Amino acid sequence: MAIRNLRLEGDEILKKKSREIENVDEKLQILIDDMIETMHRYNGVGLAAVQVGILKRVIVIDLYDNKGPIAMINPVVLKTKGEHEMDEGCLSFPNQFAKVIRPEEIVAEYTDRKGKRKKITAKELLAQAIVHEVDHLNGEVFIDKIIPGTLEYIEPEK
Ligand code: NI
Repeated sequence: MAIRNLRLEGDEILKKKSREIENVDEKLQILIDDMIETMHRYNGVGLAAVQVGILKRVIVIDLYDNKGPIAMINPVVLKTKGEHEMDEGCLSFPNQFAKVIRPEEIVAEYTDRKGKRKKITAKELLAQAIVHEVDHLNGEVFIDKIIPGTLEYIEPEK
């Protein structure tokens, strides 16, 4: 496993649309492992492949709730329910946090690491993370959807 370079604010790749993945092969498994390691290194709850410079539709999420990291290949949000204001950040926008309106609940579909298509209902933080990461796959970043006036810069404690 290896930590990959994060693509940051201002990098044009973040505005590009990622491509569907056709094969769940060894190369993809390595990418997923590296993405998980990179997410953990920077204490993120989610990461999309585009954030390490790969335009493939794969995301990883870890809410640090003892369920372990999950990888979602070709994720699609099928349904959303409700909406609420959530605090949000992004590894590509270090130290920036703001409020964003996100669905309270979603139904999503994805292919897992074994190549099996799955459907899940996700709420709260997990729903927020999935929607945020799927946005990345469509070239959308959270900073463009924040509630005006809510952006804060918070330096991490050393
Ligand atoms: Ni992000």
